[in-house]
Amino acid sequence: MTEKTILKALKGEVQKVPPIWMMRQAGRYLPEYRATRAEAGDFLSLCYNSDLAAEVTLQPIRRFGFDAAILFADILLLPQALGADLWFETGEGPRLSTITEQADFAKLKGKDDIHDKLAPIYETVKILSGELPKETTLIGFAGAPWTVATYMIAGRGTPDQGPAHALREGDNALFEQIIDLLTVSTIEYLDMQIRAGAEVVKIFDSWAGSLKGEAFEKYAVEPARLITRELKRRHGDIPVIGFPREAGEGYIGFHKKTGVDCVALDNSVTPEWGAEHVQVDGCVQGNLASSHMVTGGQALVDEVRHVREAFSKGPHIFNLGHGITPDADPDNVALMIETLRENA
Ligand code: CP3
Repeated sequence: MTEKTILKALKGEVQKVPPIWMMRQAGRYLPEYRATRAEAGDFLSLCYNSDLAAEVTLQPIRRFGFDAAILFADILLLPQALGADLWFETGEGPRLSTITEQADFAKLKGKDDIHDKLAPIYETVKILSGELPKETTLIGFAGAPWTVATYMIAGRGTPDQGPAHALREGDNALFEQIIDLLTVSTIEYLDMQIRAGAEVVKIFDSWAGSLKGEAFEKYAVEPARLITRELKRRHGDIPVIGFPREAGEGYIGFHKKTGVDCVALDNSVTPEWGAEHVQVDGCVQGNLASSHMVTGGQALVDEVRHVREAFSKGPHIFNLGHGITPDADPDNVALMIETLRENA
């Protein structure tokens, strides 16, 4: 069997047409997703219903033929498995119980006590690894410790991650206990996803860009390095994608410092900059602006060609710079894929 295109890219192979998948490819812009979500009741019930979570994971594969499927779940399921309360306020996003003092941290479970709660997620991975087309790669994922910690500390999404920065400075010992617990728990969580059939794992550090200098090294680079090193020790050379979103100059050297096989780029950098400063060290993923999935037209076609061309000299996985938004038009997704695969 010829090797899957995503796995080839992750090994550093340069392909004439780069493989493609899309962050949040199973999501509210798809009518079939909205229907299955309604059947499940709500978002969290969908995440924990293995059959329906597998179904929504497969929907964009059937509709568009992406080269990879990403497990349908959420980065906040891990804190929930550690004992945090989690719920979603309609139209507002996630809410969690907060961690502001040692007593809150003391209530959390240990890294080996998460699997009962997360068992349905492993089951989703297992179903998917049996049902995906043979050419499609299955990607598992987790949030990076820093990003997950920002939600656990504040109890919600925040524009500037202020509460997490305040704890980092005000009670660094407690802050580091949270980061350490998340680092070791993430290893166990991803380990189980890999055992269930995930062929690649991605670490989402959506708020990495708010860490600067030494803090970036300690709380974005170091946890990614520890997680990657341990997963590769346990699972041969399992490929890892890192996404230190909006890291800017922090993207430079991220492959080498952490050992990840691929660095995902957001839209704060141009493809030319990414090729020159990041792709020199290995595979990159990205970075078409997700707004093109809303606006479409010739600008979309031109920009798909531009991104493909800019990254054409090195290993590349085509993707958006961030998740597709609910107001996107599925026809624009089809146009992106058709344009990318032209002259194949
Ligand atoms: O990419 C995929 O298709 C896989 C599934 C996935 C989801 N969330 C499903 C989801 C993945 C990989 C995530 C990651 C995630 N979750 C991140 C990191 C990536 C990023 O976007 O920066 C973060 C920060 C979260 C936390 C989270 N989950 C927020 C802030 C929200 C609310 C915002 C929103 O888009 O509504 C969610 C909800 C969520 N996670 C949805 C989906 C499809 C929408 C829920 C719904 O159907 O109502």
